[in-house]
Amino acid sequence: MRETVNKTKAWKKLEEHYKTMKKTQMRDMFDEDKNRAQKYTLQLENMLVDYSKNRINDRTMKFLFNLARECQLEEKIKAMFEGEKINVTENRPVLHIALRNRENKPIYVDGKDVMPEINAVLAKMRKFSEAVRLGTFKGQTGKKLTNIVNIGIGGSDLGPVMATEALRKYWAKDINCYFISNIDGTACAEVLNKINPETTLFIVASKTFTTIETLTNAKTCRKWLVDALGEHAVSKHFVALSTNQKEVEKFGIDPENMFEFWDFVGGRYSMWSAIGLSIAIAVGMDNFEKMLEGAYAMDQHFSQTDFEHNIPVILAMLGVWYNNFFNCHRHAVIPYDQYLQYVPAYLQQLEMESNGKDVGLDNEYIKYATTPILFGGAGTNVQHSFFQLLHQGTEMVPTDFIVPAISHNEIGDHHEILLANVLAQSEALMRGKTVRETAAEMTAAGKSKETVAFLKKFKSFEGNRPSNTIVLKKVDPYALGMLIAMYEHKVFVQGVIWGINSFDQFGVELGKQMALSILPELENNASGVSHDSSTASLISYIKKLRK
Ligand code: F6P
Repeated sequence: MRETVNKTKAWKKLEEHYKTMKKTQMRDMFDEDKNRAQKYTLQLENMLVDYSKNRINDRTMKFLFNLARECQLEEKIKAMFEGEKINVTENRPVLHIALRNRENKPIYVDGKDVMPEINAVLAKMRKFSEAVRLGTFKGQTGKKLTNIVNIGIGGSDLGPVMATEALRKYWAKDINCYFISNIDGTACAEVLNKINPETTLFIVASKTFTTIETLTNAKTCRKWLVDALGEHAVSKHFVALSTNQKEVEKFGIDPENMFEFWDFVGGRYSMWSAIGLSIAIAVGMDNFEKMLEGAYAMDQHFSQTDFEHNIPVILAMLGVWYNNFFNCHRHAVIPYDQYLQYVPAYLQQLEMESNGKDVGLDNEYIKYATTPILFGGAGTNVQHSFFQLLHQGTEMVPTDFIVPAISHNEIGDHHEILLANVLAQSEALMRGKTVRETAAEMTAAGKSKETVAFLKKFKSFEGNRPSNTIVLKKVDPYALGMLIAMYEHKVFVQGVIWGINSFDQFGVELGKQMALSILPELENNASGVSHDSSTASLISYIKKLRK
């Protein structure tokens, strides 16, 4: 058993080192070293990652890499790529990397190469998505299927939603994608109100095919379709994406219309698998495969590059530095691109469902902070909501800025204004404005002495707030694949450092189980479960209102 990370030599070094770094000003480090940006910038093909606006120096990075080595990161990366059962609580390998293994090198699980099956599903996805796009796979009444409705939740929704939105510019002209995830009937009703059953394809996406939200939504949609077109229409308008053929058949979907994936693909890592069918239909299989290629380029980089030049490793270790030494337990991700608006929501599941855990691989409770709370939204919008807190809040929030150099919609000077804003935000967070600078600026602007004395603190900025800036050339399928794979590997590295299994999600079970016991009570049947007085009175108050 390995010693817990906070007992390692490197951790102790970092604790010591933190004492000297906590007062160091980034603006001074930039002034002292004209090469700083160059030194702390990495480029992988067209993706540039500038991490120079962080509270680090060479010693910080050295200690962080030492920590990664002490945690046997290299061996752990190898174990994942070789298909070892690193998801120990579920006794499974973790092989989303196999889904985009574009060189098709064999990857063995229990002595069997998984690549032929993966390739067969990709081929089936190509055939089907092309048939839908060309209109050769028709609906029951002979019409082309142009409304694609993905029914799924969590990893069976967020990846497809995020990626189809990111690649909206690549959609076939006559295709529209819709997503139903929430059990709230409104989610179903709002989509069904917009579409015509004759031209609709429902994709029921569920790894387990037991998720109550997805199955309830799918049943409602099935009834809506059957009411309009009859039972025969189901085979023309419903397909399933799942690992669970038995449940798919039980639901009434022909296994011919099922696109398989496997236990070794975690829900939140599944958009590269059959779960991406809606993406493939919207943007075409060639573009879907370009997304896989981008992810593969990042996989290669991650698995073959020394830590000192490894983008996911560096981003992960910076996260550890702030989370565990500066005690910053929040992390913001701000894409400056409207098409990337759902990336923060996607990353919330990826990071927090993977690493929001309190029991370590040594089966002991963890005594240090694991993953921070991730939040974000599209810039510049969020500049006008929570950026006040990023600049002047009492807790420092390390931030990732993501921005494409070229917009898909270069209208007038919109994109220059957007670019100026993202660059200004990271500079402002880093540089700040001291009380003295603020006072001087106000005096120069002709403000009275009293006004300056009263307002100078309110209007000053502490600065020294860290950020990474990730520049893409353009939001295209390849760049999106690279970006998302980068974050997946960052999460993996942090899981290794914190000594947790990033690939289970037992934390979501208790609430699900308790909902099942409350449900009969809302339907006026006894559940045999006794509740606390708050829950009991909420149940009775809601029932009274619903009478
Ligand atoms: O609620 C957690 C979860 O299990 C996620 O991990 C998963 O992405 C989601 O539910 C959906 O699960 P499924 O694809 O099996 O319906």
